[in-house]
Amino acid sequence: MKIGDENEPDLSARTFLNDVLIGLSHQSKYLPAKWFYDHTGAKLFEKICDVPEYYLTRTEREILETAAPDIARELGSSAVLIEYGSGAMTKVRLVLDAIDKPYAFVAVDIVSGQLEQAAADLEAAYPELRVQTIATDFTNDFSLPDWLHSAGRCCVFFPGSTIGNFEPGEIKEFLQRLHRTVDENGALLIGVDLKKDRKRLEAAYNDSLGLTALFNKNILRRINHELDGDICINSFQHLAWYNSSKGRVEMHLRSCLDQNLNIAGQEFHFRAGETIHTENCYKFTVPEFQSIATDSGFRPVQVWTDKDNLFSIHLFDAN
Ligand code: AVJ
Repeated sequence: MKIGDENEPDLSARTFLNDVLIGLSHQSKYLPAKWFYDHTGAKLFEKICDVPEYYLTRTEREILETAAPDIARELGSSAVLIEYGSGAMTKVRLVLDAIDKPYAFVAVDIVSGQLEQAAADLEAAYPELRVQTIATDFTNDFSLPDWLHSAGRCCVFFPGSTIGNFEPGEIKEFLQRLHRTVDENGALLIGVDLKKDRKRLEAAYNDSLGLTALFNKNILRRINHELDGDICINSFQHLAWYNSSKGRVEMHLRSCLDQNLNIAGQEFHFRAGETIHTENCYKFTVPEFQSIATDSGFRPVQVWTDKDNLFSIHLFDAN
């Protein structure tokens, strides 16, 4: 079963074009981080998850393994999981393996090719499970299957600290939307990266293999391929640092020279040293995140962290 916009490539190309024209016309140039993820970007991100400096994925997996029995007990039997940004769908298996007779899994992702492949792999591994894919940009509203609330508890699974990509002014509205999605009896299982020393954070976004740099530059490659751009990718340098006053890692692409670029027939000027701000990855303390979720209608049930306090997994109830 699938729902999605993959048959409307024009629509998504128009949105990408719109976002690029708006972002690069802004006085401080920026691009939305969701456009990192096409087939190439998704593959690069998977590789980043395996580099030694990128502690997030490895640590979250460790925590999930420990927490899975408790999570399963809280969710009860015949639960429905909805994952936002399901990617390769490997983490959810740790939860599915622990739950008693999971009723269904709904996978939402912007990369439709990977979505179908990962769903097929998951269906093969879990023949009893109903798997539904939704190819969409989950930052927009979208419709969910009507049988969603006809089984056990409905739980949004939002791992990886993807929540860190939301701006402080947008996060509450998004969490409130998740709250409406799961209904009264629902739950939210969410992975949140923790505030920590600068060295550790900056190493995670400046890996020595240079995969994060390639991932960052993938957005320029997409502009060239999909929007008829003439960007010399090597004229931009990857930058990532921890902005401690804002509690976020910022990623930028810095123009090494004074240059004019053409994108979809429009010209953009870059000063030498000027950057395009491509991503914010907000970091939280456990109480900070609990307070944001509580403001959005959720009630903290349990939190798990690793022994070094690098990462957290939170379970919230909707009532
Ligand atoms: C997918 C948003 C969680 O913030 O760490 C990884 C994306 N950017 N390396 C993150 C990312 C650079 C990642 N999230």
